[in-house]
Amino acid sequence: MRINGEVDVHELRVMLREATAPVHRKLDAHPVLKPLFDAKLNPAQYSLVLRCFHDFYSQIQPILGRELSHIPVHYELTNRLPWLNQDLADLRQLGCNSPQATTFSLPALNSSSAVIGALYVIEGSTLGAQVIAQQVRRSLGFHATWCARFFHGFGEVTLEHWRKYWDFATTLCEPAHYPHATDTAVALFECLIAGLDEAWAQRETTLLHPI
Ligand code: HEM
Repeated sequence: MRINGEVDVHELRVMLREATAPVHRKLDAHPVLKPLFDAKLNPAQYSLVLRCFHDFYSQIQPILGRELSHIPVHYELTNRLPWLNQDLADLRQLGCNSPQATTFSLPALNSSSAVIGALYVIEGSTLGAQVIAQQVRRSLGFHATWCARFFHGFGEVTLEHWRKYWDFATTLCEPAHYPHATDTAVALFECLIAGLDEAWAQRETTLLHPI
């Protein structure tokens, strides 16, 4: 829908949010992420979460960076790896060594609508991350400069970044392409869940069959 020639941001957002709600709930309840909301969260559980996100961003960021360079509208994707690497280094000081690497089978991201769908997942996750940051501060005392840079993310300017994403998405995405953006966002959530399943299974194998 266009209003006075402007794409209606609301329509795209509702489509993305509604389509991804079930997979978002599935992700929240995943055994790798669920302990984040446990008052007894321990650094080893937290380290597994960060290692998974480290592997996810290592794989997706270069692809998105390449695709974004072919898109005529500029979008600045913030590199999450310095936050994650520093948090993992802090955790090593606490004796938490990262478990095995996880592979994520990413959906095709070779169109601007696919990029918009993928960025929705990545940039939207900074909203939930604010809640997680508060939680890990309470449970483990981790904060924006110690072990929790990644979840702290953009901090008080989170909504500003989120608005920039929507400016970009609505400048670029024609309503005819909303379904493809939405399908890609769902596929990316599913890819994350599959990667976390793999990380969880590897972790259980290690526990069941210690070397
Ligand atoms: C335990 C894990 C998670 C929790 C508890 C959680 C929680 C939340 C919450 C509370 C919001 C709404 C924030 C607001 O409206 O201000 C949100 C939004 C969002 N989260 Fe999560 N989240 C989690 C993990 C993730 C992950 C891993 C991703 C994807 C990488 C993700 C993607 C999103 C997206 C795309 C939105 C934006 C929804 C919208 O408003 O359109 N979340 N999350």
